[in-house]
Amino acid sequence: MADVLIRTAGITKDYGNKVKTRVLFGIDLEFCAGEFTVMLGASGSGKSTLLNILGALDRSTEGDVFVNNTNLNSLDDDGLALFRNQTMGFIFQSHFLLPQFTVLENVLIPHMIYADRVNPTIEKRALELLDMVGISHRRDNRANAISGGEQQRAAIARALINRPRIILADEPTGNLDTANTEKVFSLLQSINREFKTTFIMVTHNSELAQRSDRYLVMSDGRILEDKYLNVKCLE
Ligand SMILES: Nc1ncnc2c1ncn2[C@@H]1O[C@H](COP(=O)(O)OP(=O)(O)O)[C@@H](O)[C@H]1O
Ligand SMILES: [Mg+2]
Repeated sequence: MADVLIRTAGITKDYGNKVKTRVLFGIDLEFCAGEFTVMLGASGSGKSTLLNILGALDRSTEGDVFVNNTNLNSLDDDGLALFRNQTMGFIFQSHFLLPQFTVLENVLIPHMIYADRVNPTIEKRALELLDMVGISHRRDNRANAISGGEQQRAAIARALINRPRIILADEPTGNLDTANTEKVFSLLQSINREFKTTFIMVTHNSELAQRSDRYLVMSDGRILEDKYLNVKCLE
């Protein structure tokens, strides 16, 4: 396939030192640029473990992950951190905003990690992102002084600040009510369409899976089902 952005080859993951427990059993997957994939599966089936390996937050025990033709195993920890910062955006069930900072400052944090200062261009981008997620009026509020739905939207703006090609989202609507789930999911879909960002999103909501390009079902560390609803890969 011409536009495979992420490819895994035989990924396994063992936890534990003396007693090893295998939680991923040889995962082979390809994700094309611009694809919106939903990952379903029971608790404990290995979804977060796989997502963390795809996002270079954790390393596999065996097997390789190639992102944009870079083998993540070829990078040392600093290289991995830089690669992650430039290529990946993360959204988790818990927003992980820093409560003592404002919404705007939180959005700028992934930029600040490798930049020495905030220039007007990046601040303008942060404000545009806050506008896009509908909370620009909250820019100067502390992150712990806004609602849960607003916090998750701030986390989405933060995930976008470095223009990542890939966004990994681990149960991003897991703490939200139905109305906020709809807002957040629609927002992720519009980001996918507008910026061609590749998404891999874990959820327990099978209705959202039906609205994606593809869904995977994990069971006991294996891919049980891999179904395309809308093929975006070039043959
Ligand atoms: N850091 C860890 N140490 C040991 N076992 C872990 C660790 N993280 C996850 N596991 C185990 O790995 C399995 C898969 O977990 P996880 O990837 O979190 O599943 P899911 O996200 O699908 O709920 C579970 O049995 C879990 O208990
Ligand atoms: Mg999980």
